[in-house]
Amino acid sequence: MNKIYLDQASTSFPKAPSVADAVYHYLSKAPVNVNRGTYQDAYDTEEQIFETREQLLKLFHFSSGKGKNVIFTPNITTSLNVLLKGLLKPGDHVLVTSMEHNAVMRPLVQLTGQGVIFDRIPCTSDGSLLLEQAKKLLTPRTRLLVCLHASNVCGTIMPAREIGQFCREHGLLFILDTAQTAGTIPVDMEDFQISALAFTGHKGLRGPQGTGGFLIRSELVSQIDPLLSGGTGSASHTEEVPDFLPDRFEPGTPNIPGILGLHAALEDLSRTSMEETFQHEMMLTSYFIQGILDLDPAEKHLRIIGKKDTAGRCPVVSVQTLDTDIALAAFELDNTYGIMTRVGLHCAPSAHKTLGTYPTGTIRFSFGPENTVSELDQALDALAHITETQSKRGR
Ligand code: ALA
Repeated sequence: MNKIYLDQASTSFPKAPSVADAVYHYLSKAPVNVNRGTYQDAYDTEEQIFETREQLLKLFHFSSGKGKNVIFTPNITTSLNVLLKGLLKPGDHVLVTSMEHNAVMRPLVQLTGQGVIFDRIPCTSDGSLLLEQAKKLLTPRTRLLVCLHASNVCGTIMPAREIGQFCREHGLLFILDTAQTAGTIPVDMEDFQISALAFTGHKGLRGPQGTGGFLIRSELVSQIDPLLSGGTGSASHTEEVPDFLPDRFEPGTPNIPGILGLHAALEDLSRTSMEETFQHEMMLTSYFIQGILDLDPAEKHLRIIGKKDTAGRCPVVSVQTLDTDIALAAFELDNTYGIMTRVGLHCAPSAHKTLGTYPTGTIRFSFGPENTVSELDQALDALAHITETQSKRGR
């Protein structure tokens, strides 16, 4: 059976063209460690990792940052844990949106056990942020606003520039989770006035899993206690955690093959137009939304969750099958038609509560640069057969 991958919001596939070769080359030719070996192969590998930091500075328009302000972690969840658990102290108050993923919510809920308090800025039933309601949630102890840049459930994009401005006006730190936007839409550390930006390498950047990190302004560094500590290959005369970057937040041997794969992915990305790729993905999004609406205009059997147009969203579409259990529908999509999606609550119960889809959840279709209209036709035909709309599509 021909398989169709429509779960790009979970991890991108296929990866950028040069990634597999870069990982293979490193592992098969010179899998040396970094920051430890006093030989040329180690220096060359360190140089490539340094270049990767520079690529990320450029991608995220962090013009006032240096390579050392880019920290590598195993994934964006680790990045958010390092930032939130290192920064927040008892009594601190935090604002989030009601659309957050558990990568933000679970660390925050854990921190409430230590006296951290948070409030959710409400969003509409299509996931749009009601930023004007944030002001009344402020307290004298509000220190931080942390939020995702786009919903992993329905694709709605948050107004990052306006949020950054709000944070500036009210003296708050601003942490942005770019899990669904890095490599897909422009993210600008300076323009959005971001204090720290968490990213993953394996989604829109099309690098390997196990890569991610954060970009951090130097003035914030001393406020963040390192969550993890250990050998860094530097300052080895002392048992204290180094206070300099990136070593302060990078103990242990990093995921070198992964970072070199990410280096290759970023090179590939720099050779393509993000704008053109995004336009292609939004064409697919629009086609798919229209296809669902054509199948069932009265929404008796199929319902699109979130926005029904392409404005202010990224290429993620959530759907509910109203006369078929969503888990069974997703199973059938894969088992009978070879169409891979993600079903359920997408690690984002708060988002589903906002969208009115909790606890049932949704079937999520998400598109990447190499998905095609023909694949979407097959997905729409499959949905038509699974639901009671088959006669409408007539293909
Ligand atoms: N958080 C990722 C998703 O939405 C993995 O699928």
